[in-house]
Amino acid sequence: MRAQVAIIGAGPAGMFLAHLLREAGIDAVVLELRSREYVVARVRAGVLEQSTVDLMRRLGIGERVGREGMVHAGTTLAVDGDSFHVDFAELANGAAITVYGQSEVMKDLNQAADERHIHVIYEASDVRPHGLDTDTPWVTWNSPHGARRLECDFVAGCDGFHGVSRGCIPHGALTVFERAYPFGWLGVLAEVPPCNHELVYANHERGFALASMRSPTRSRCYLQCSLQDRIEDWSDDAFWDEFALRIGGSFASRITRGPTFEKSIAPLRSFVCAPMRWGRLFLAGDAAHIVPPTGAKGLNLAVADVVVLANALGRLYATGSCEGVDGYSDRALARVWKAERFSWWLTNLTHRFPHMDGFDRQMQLAELAYLRSSRAARSAFAENYVGLPLEV
Ligand code: APR
Ligand code: PHB
Repeated sequence: MRAQVAIIGAGPAGMFLAHLLREAGIDAVVLELRSREYVVARVRAGVLEQSTVDLMRRLGIGERVGREGMVHAGTTLAVDGDSFHVDFAELANGAAITVYGQSEVMKDLNQAADERHIHVIYEASDVRPHGLDTDTPWVTWNSPHGARRLECDFVAGCDGFHGVSRGCIPHGALTVFERAYPFGWLGVLAEVPPCNHELVYANHERGFALASMRSPTRSRCYLQCSLQDRIEDWSDDAFWDEFALRIGGSFASRITRGPTFEKSIAPLRSFVCAPMRWGRLFLAGDAAHIVPPTGAKGLNLAVADVVVLANALGRLYATGSCEGVDGYSDRALARVWKAERFSWWLTNLTHRFPHMDGFDRQMQLAELAYLRSSRAARSAFAENYVGLPLEV
């Protein structure tokens, strides 16, 4: 088989890239380890930046998100039972975010991929890129019908944090920047109306809580928890008691309790590897960087990477200019670092750290009070939260 671009991974980065390349007339094949059902069903974050929604529209897959996505023009920060609102419409030139689950995004990407005959190969095991430092790379894998090989011009490593692509870059050529946080997030879904019409990020003495949603009748709620906790430790009653305590104030009284499902615990990590290109390999999305979920930047960052990459490859194939592909890593990383900073900052502002002393706590409270009282501080928050411009 031959394609201009081999894409490894059919998550958001790989599938958005496949659509963008098709739009640019570049032919690509996507190789995915898991089954299609598994990739679509995974429960991940659910906040889309304006530019992600705009891109879905441009690609002709924006009809359902336009109909079913919930547009939020603000968010609330809560502190020990008290709260204040950050109004994106007022502070960020009318920008908004859209609440729409990642699994819905994946359904839309996959359905359009079928209609457009985008070639996605699922259940491809032992995917391996080769010859990345030559002009004629290739990728091998095992299908249920035997060993396969794809010749290509470029390989896009969109295979997430645990994929194979990043490991193909020699150790000496890669710098890794990392921060592991000493806590996790316990997340649940429940078929109950959310306790507020917008998201609530709560900083409480006992730890962080987030009230989010998937629809007017489905809540998505998170609690900061210990990395030693197990899901079995958290009964539904224990979850809702702790959630009400931390969210506090009038939100607590509006919580509808119900059976929880999709209960999971995830660690929090900041991670960046640089450069995002080595030879004929380009990394995009979680393969190159991870953000803690506070701020919901993961999916949006993956989209921003592949927009830069698709523009660069489009230019190369249309004009022969290498400028875009040579500048890909610097360009993508410039935006990545800003989103890393915002996610790290919001995590530090809203979570309880194990060794926090009284001074650390007062610093958090002072910063939250400053956000509350200063329009300039809220503007900076809003500008980052709704998403920085795609190409920086
Ligand atoms: N070979 C082929 N595919 C692989 C391999 C491999 N060796 N390893 C992983 N994959 C696939 C995974 O099964 C997954 O479908 O690559 C895909 C990577 O998808 P994500 O992990 O979702 O990463 P990305 O597309 O960069 O999206 C980033 O979306 O899923 C969220 O938390 C994620 O917010 C982040 C954003
Ligand atoms: C979610 O709805 O899953 C969500 C929302 C906001 C975040 C993280 C996750 O910051």
